[in-house]
Amino acid sequence: MALTPAAGGGCGESSMPPPSIRSLQPVNSDVEWDSFDPQAYVRHNYAVLRADDREILCRTRDFLARAKLSDADCVDVGSGANLYPALSLLPFARRVDLCDWSTSNVSWLRTQIHGYDELWDPYWQVCAENPAYSALTDPRGRLARVGRVRKTSVFDVPRHAWDAGTMFFVACSISADRAEAERAIGRFLDALRPGSPFAVAVMLGSRGYHVGQRLYPAVALRRAEVVARIAAGAYDLDVHEVRLTPPLRDGYRSMLLATGRTRG
Ligand SMILES: C[S@@+](CC[C@H](N)C(=O)[O-])C[C@H]1O[C@@H](n2cnc3c(N)ncnc32)[C@H](O)[C@@H]1O
Repeated sequence: MALTPAAGGGCGESSMPPPSIRSLQPVNSDVEWDSFDPQAYVRHNYAVLRADDREILCRTRDFLARAKLSDADCVDVGSGANLYPALSLLPFARRVDLCDWSTSNVSWLRTQIHGYDELWDPYWQVCAENPAYSALTDPRGRLARVGRVRKTSVFDVPRHAWDAGTMFFVACSISADRAEAERAIGRFLDALRPGSPFAVAVMLGSRGYHVGQRLYPAVALRRAEVVARIAAGAYDLDVHEVRLTPPLRDGYRSMLLATGRTRG
């Protein structure tokens, strides 16, 4: 992980360059998100549809299909280089905002929403196993029409701006600071209007992850603290843990998916 250099010393100080400071517990603003390599991330995580992502997608799909949404303003927060949360929202959306803080991921998303790569077709095929999705025959065209990419931080999203939302593998993976993980979940839930259906996925027990050669920080979240944080802003909560052997991403125990509706 490359961290932003510390602010320079004041006047009259030594002409030696300031020592580079590497925090052991980097916060979100310490990390060079603009160097995130979306191609490497996709290759490692999504080039082949894995059983754990399939299960998370199936559960999200069926939950959203039951939610009786239509013509909704939808958001995926921290989209990065993953289109399957946005695909899960597609049949019900009059718009889908894909938000990320990294300029490299934002560029990747802007290219993808105009005609996404074939590797996402198996993900749509999983969606299309549900009739609420198979009725949509041109998902690529629909995403191009309703998708909108925004460079926005989860810590700056507006309140009560969307009717449904997803946030996958973000709270656990944007810093090593537990308080920031909790704040990210709170901001995401608060960005949705009261009563909105949502899906949040996190890695449990993650200690960081590589994207290409770079190491990114994570918080080793525990199930109980994630559930408690989400429950504080939600009702009709359903929580499911997915364990796979061998695990895909470095240093994590399992994936947790929480679905529910936001409180007022
Ligand atoms: C582990 S990736 C998850 C990407 C994707 N949602 C997925 O399911 O694979 C974490 C993402 O959070 C983004 N990110 C980092 N800091 C952020 C912030 N403050 N606000 C929004 N997104 C952020 C990164 O650019 C990256 O795309």
